[in-house]
Amino acid sequence: MSQPRVFVTRILPGNALELLRESCAVRLWEGELPPPRATILQEIVDADGLLPLLTDKIDADLINAGLKLRVISNMAVGCDNIDVVAASARNIPVGYTPGVLTETSADFAFALLMAAARRIVEGERFVKAGLWQTWSPTLLLGGDIYGATLGIIGLGRIGQGMARRARGFAMRVLYYDPAANRAKAQELGVIECELDDLLRQSDYVSLHVPLKTDTYHLIGARELALMQPTAILINTARGGVVDPQALYTALKAGQIAAAALDVTEPEPIPLDDPLLTLENCLIVPHIASASHATRAKMANMAVENLLAGLRGEPMPFCFNPEVYKTGRI
Ligand code: DGY
Repeated sequence: MSQPRVFVTRILPGNALELLRESCAVRLWEGELPPPRATILQEIVDADGLLPLLTDKIDADLINAGLKLRVISNMAVGCDNIDVVAASARNIPVGYTPGVLTETSADFAFALLMAAARRIVEGERFVKAGLWQTWSPTLLLGGDIYGATLGIIGLGRIGQGMARRARGFAMRVLYYDPAANRAKAQELGVIECELDDLLRQSDYVSLHVPLKTDTYHLIGARELALMQPTAILINTARGGVVDPQALYTALKAGQIAAAALDVTEPEPIPLDDPLLTLENCLIVPHIASASHATRAKMANMAVENLLAGLRGEPMPFCFNPEVYKTGRI
């Protein structure tokens, strides 16, 4: 029997590709940048499986062009790059990578909070620009973290990780998440809030929601206006959760003190984006999950999902498990 054909849209870390090559005919895009849409289209036509990254937009037309396509396995926990409805309509399971990146991403979100609050990146730039002349009582003053109030929007896995870290800093933690696991929230000692109250009360607001129709530009001009002038916004979720123009206006006008962004809309952020001109906006290139161990685990998990799907078995981590209820897999 011939091996299933799979298309992998980037070189994967660790031994994930070796594992895949043991039982599949692997077509690999070796470029550092994402493959063009035309290449994915060409490859998907006779592929049984597809392993994309979050940078690859897998829309309905692509999915439907894959006449033999049986499995999609995203190397990401967020699946907003994939038209999951179109995949489900074809009974194609979509794999994702929850859990393995939780702690690494929460570490990073907390690191961004600390860096923005204590102006670490500004301080480093100051030193390297040769501006450090003396110790000054008023140089680069920031906000305290210990004992401050943290507002978490989205109390899923990473939001909970953020709350656990905040405990070590004696923070008061508020959360907004209509779908939260209340027992978990109680265990964490976090306080449920309406979104507006959370924005008004928090010294730090950290975003941990997936990008969906109802979370697109969840934080816009109205929401930023509710925040305190000393508050800091941290976004490690998806760029589209924040309206970038409204954020620029709020940061420029001093409506909020600072923002720390791991994600932007679009990605990468264009070099002429006005957010890049602001000292109080720290921006890094979507690296919250970028530890050696976590990225290797994500790649292996994506391969395991892909292989299970190709064998016709339920994927260990399936984003659209409803496909298994149709009886047509
Ligand atoms: C994901 O997997 O969705 C993350 O954004 C990667 O850091």
